[in-house]
Amino acid sequence: RRLMLLGAPGAGKGTQAQLLMQDLGLPQVSTGDILRAAVKEGTALGLEAQSYMNRGALVPDAVVIGLIEDRLARPDAGGGWILDGFPRTPAQAEALDGLLTNLDQSLEAVVLIDVPEAQLIERLTGRRTCPLCKRIFHVRFNPPPAVPPFCTDHADCPSALVQRPDDTLEVVSKRLNVYRESTEPLVRYYQQQQKLTSVDGDRSPEVVYSELRELLG
Ligand code: AP5
Ligand code: ZN
Repeated sequence: RRLMLLGAPGAGKGTQAQLLMQDLGLPQVSTGDILRAAVKEGTALGLEAQSYMNRGALVPDAVVIGLIEDRLARPDAGGGWILDGFPRTPAQAEALDGLLTNLDQSLEAVVLIDVPEAQLIERLTGRRTCPLCKRIFHVRFNPPPAVPPFCTDHADCPSALVQRPDDTLEVVSKRLNVYRESTEPLVRYYQQQQKLTSVDGDRSPEVVYSELRELLG
């Protein structure tokens, strides 16, 4: 299956993609995660991307389109995937259409996760992530199991949870503006392709997930 999660920063794309991945056995393809890994490794890509990410701007289209071309050509992408955080601009959406045509594949469904803006700010500023297994927590809405905040869910944890550098209030506001200007037009784009459905994302992760599963059949 070839699925896409669309939504503002903090809408819960990563949280829902992790649940879908466990359930459907599909790889989650997140350009944010790929870029953060490059930053951590200090590669040329990471160095370039970091300056954009830390101020809440989008990494240039050509860079992320190149990443996705490589990622979707990998053998483990042949059986399907869940796109999370890509595409984010009309140019990226058009590039994806072209790429899928070349691969003789097609996108099955796009799910918009809809959450009011005040809630997005609270979610992002309270997010904490396990640097080892990438599991996502929230200081209030999804608190980690131990104090001090550790992820104890995986064999290679516990590891102290971290806050993303772009989750400060200042950068969050910038990211929300960028979403409205550059990414929100994709809602219409996929509506016109008759691929778009949406879920009310302003409920608990479990409730959102069960509706998502129902929608996807
Ligand atoms: P990226 O990593 O993609 O970030 P994002 O789109 O801003 O999305 P987030 O990861 O912040 O939010 P999410 O929707 O996944 O929410 P989550 O599940 O974590 O991108 C980061 C940067 O990389 C960009 O700014 C850009 O610079 C660059 N980039 C990435 N892709 C790019 C592209 N295609 N083109 C150009 N540049 C690109 O949840 C958030 C919090 O809320 C968590 O704490 C979670 O526990 C909590 N939560 C989740 N669901 C619920 C719920 N139902 N109820 C209560 N709390 C919840
Ligand atoms: Zn962990």
